[in-house]
Amino acid sequence: MSGISKTILVTGATGGIGLAVCHRLAKAGNSLVLAARDAGKLQSLCTELSNTCPGTSSWISVDMTRDDSVKKFSEELNARNVILDGAVLMPPQDPPTNDPLPSSDKWREVLQNSFVGPLSLLKAAIATMKPDPANGRRSKIVIISGISSVQVLGHYASSNVIRCAWLAEAKTLAFALGEQGIHVNTLSLGGTLTPGYAASLEKRAAKAGTTLAQRLAEETSNIPLRKYGAPDEVAAAVEGLLSAFSDNMTGLNILHDGGFTRAY
Ligand SMILES: NC(=O)c1ccc[n+]([C@@H]2O[C@H](COP(=O)([O-])OP(=O)(O)OC[C@H]3O[C@@H](n4cnc5c(N)ncnc54)[C@H](OP(=O)(O)O)[C@@H]3O)[C@@H](O)[C@H]2O)c1
Repeated sequence: MSGISKTILVTGATGGIGLAVCHRLAKAGNSLVLAARDAGKLQSLCTELSNTCPGTSSWISVDMTRDDSVKKFSEELNARNVILDGAVLMPPQDPPTNDPLPSSDKWREVLQNSFVGPLSLLKAAIATMKPDPANGRRSKIVIISGISSVQVLGHYASSNVIRCAWLAEAKTLAFALGEQGIHVNTLSLGGTLTPGYAASLEKRAAKAGTTLAQRLAEETSNIPLRKYGAPDEVAAAVEGLLSAFSDNMTGLNILHDGGFTRAY
């Protein structure tokens, strides 16, 4: 992708990270296709972006966990003749359960909701891409992941397995699609202070009988940069990965964790 306006799909568009990503990409003049389940929130965001940013925005409601919903999403993309230059995929993630051996049914559900369903949406997005690397037109996919892609989280079996599955699939796609000019990278986030994450931090502070500032200082004391990430920082990294910055980069897992991960 070059600096000119592109058409980019953003899933999870109305969430804490999605909002920051959408605002940044729309301000830069890109046209966005916003996706999430709640049509009301998508419409409000679309109106806000259209009123404040140069690029055009549209939205499609989809439940990534459901095959029938993803099929409709794909048909809608095709009906609108959308040609995507980029896609930012934010697979839904179950909360941690502390259970290292979830039941078989639970695993089937997790794999469907966090991997199979979102992958089928990504497949639909890829089908619309028309890269032409010989003429400088490249398509960029950024899959939002987490640090359990590289470092096991003892309380979070589903995250450990799903994040590694995305790593493997992204690498596979990078090899398969690179010649066509389609780039696939994962961006693995450490704790990121979205409103949702801040609310859970506040609860932990109240439970521990400390202030929010004290709790935050404690939780980030083992992070070299001594802070959690901000949604705006994630948005800046996503914009970079969608830009010419990544024209010679694919199949990478980029850590966005304040230096938390110790492995090389
Ligand atoms: N925040 C962090 O600290 C952190 C750390 C590591 C990784 N991540 C990853 O970053 C991504 C975004 O996280 P966030 O903190 O911004 O989450 P969030 O605030 O909870 O937002 C989630 C977004 O995804 C949409 N969504 C949820 N389930 C969906 C489904 N089944 N189908 C389609 N859309 C769905 C939500 O909208 P609807 O509810 O309307 O569908 C919303 O737009 C996720 O992939 C998460 O795993 C976050």
